[in-house]
Formats: sequence, structure tokens, C-alpha cells
Amino acid sequence: MIELIGIHKSFGEKVILDGVDLSAKEGEIHFVIGTSGAGKSVLLKHIVGLLRPDRGQVLVDGVDVTHFTEKQFYPIRKKCALVLQHATLFDSMTCEENVSLPLLKHTDLSEKAALARARSLLEEVGMADYATALPVRLGDGMRKSVAVARALALEPEYMLFDEPTTSLDPLSARRVDALIAELAEKRGVGCIVVSHDLPSIFGIAHRVTMLYKGKVLASGTQEDLLGSTDPVVGQFIHGKPEGPLETT
Ligand SMILES: Nc1ncnc2c1ncn2[C@@H]1O[C@H](COP(=O)(O)OP(=O)(O)OP(=O)(O)O)[C@@H](O)[C@H]1O
Ligand SMILES: [Mg+2]
Repeated sequence: MIELIGIHKSFGEKVILDGVDLSAKEGEIHFVIGTSGAGKSVLLKHIVGLLRPDRGQVLVDGVDVTHFTEKQFYPIRKKCALVLQHATLFDSMTCEENVSLPLLKHTDLSEKAALARARSLLEEVGMADYATALPVRLGDGMRKSVAVARALALEPEYMLFDEPTTSLDPLSARRVDALIAELAEKRGVGCIVVSHDLPSIFGIAHRVTMLYKGKVLASGTQEDLLGSTDPVVGQFIHGKPEGPLETT
């Protein structure tokens, strides 16, 4: 389980996170939503030590990693794979070569074995037919799937997605949703997904946490959020332009 407990983070005078709690269990898909600048990406980065909290604790499988050194974070980053919005692939390498890279870097597998493993990962994300294609030939949704295959190479127990469906066409977006749902269901991967994609949220989220003004404004199941009487939550999840929600 990943647990963020009472995370406070400021940059200069600007308070971004003002005591935020968030957790994700194995097999669970937890969405983090909120307006642009709410601190969603900042929160994700705390899990893998790319940012450190001013106050609060980060626990990974019960281990307090808050004050881990950079080197101590290496195994945590294998356990918790972060997939960034613009997950970049090397365009001069084939998809299978891209996916094999972390295997060659972090395991003893031979090049041949790493490529074989890469092909099976590509198959798992529905990209088997593109193993020897160059990423430039692929659309954004397919590139995202290859990036997910690459993140899966080191068999993470948790995956952290920063806006995995932003800028994808609706069909590709739903394909990525299905992939995330499958990772959670079949592999038991715990997923934290930062997103403002309403169809994603109301398609696959087990739990949803909304950040607003540095705090957790609402947290619960899809039904809890849909039933929330908070006008700011209501405005956000129904995508209404008018309302009390203040954007930063
Ligand atoms: N390293 C940093 N140094 C200073 N300020 C930062 C840093 N990282 C983020 N911020 C600021 O923290 C705030 C929250 O940023 P964050 O990227 O987490 O927002 P977000 O919720 O992910 O928004 P978006 O939906 O646009 O991605 C922003 O005002 C941003 O400018
Ligand atoms: Mg962000």
C-alpha cells in the first residue's frame, strides 16, 4: 500500500499542499482530480522522492520513505513506476527495443531475452503487432501503451499515471483506461491516476480524491463524489463552466 499522510509542500510563499492524505492499495485505482495547478503532479512526485514534503509522511508497503536518500529511492522507483504525461520513447529504436531498455539496464537478462520479454509485454498491452515498428509510426494512444509496457518491464507493484489520457482522442483514451483497469484487476497493480478526464474517472476509478486549495475537498467512491452536496465538487465533476470553483 502507498500512503501519503498529512503532506505539506510550499514553493516559496506559495502553499501547494496543505495537509493532504492519499493512499492506494494493491489492485486499486485511485484517481486524483482537481483544477490545473491544484498540486496533483506535485503530490505524485512525493511518492517516488522527486519532491520531498515540508511536513508529513510517505509510506510504501509500511516503510517510511520520507527521509530516504536518493539512492534508497532507487528500489522504490522500481516498485512504483511513474508514467508521465509526455512519456517519451526513443524514436530511433523500435518499440520492443524501447521496452527492453529498463531490462538491459536493471536486470541480468541478455539482449535476446530482454527483447523476448519486451515482446510479451507489448502483447500484454495490445501492441504485439508493432514490436518492430518505430514509435514515430504510432498515434499518441499507441505510444502511451508502449510507454506503459516499458513501465511494466520492472514489474512494478504500483503505477502512478500523470494524465494518461490527456490529449488522446476518445477511443485511444478509453483503450488506455481499459489497460489501467486490466493492470489493476489481473496483475493487482495499485494505480494512482492524476486526471481531469471525466469519462476515465467515471469509467474505471475505484476511489476519487479531489484536491482544492491545497486540501482534500472530497474523497470516496464514484457514487460518493456524484452524490456530494459540495458545490465545488459538483461543478468540477459535472464540468460546468459556471460556479463557485476558483481556478488558480
Ligand atoms: N519545482 C517547482 N518549483 C516551484 N513551483 C512548482 C514546482 N513544481 C510545481 N510548482 C507549482 O506548484 C503548483 C502545482 O503544480 P502541479 O504541477 O502539481 O499542478 P497540477 O495540479 O498537476 O496541474 P495541471 O493539471 O496543470 O498539471 C503550480 O502552481 C506550480 O507552478
Ligand atoms: Mg500536473
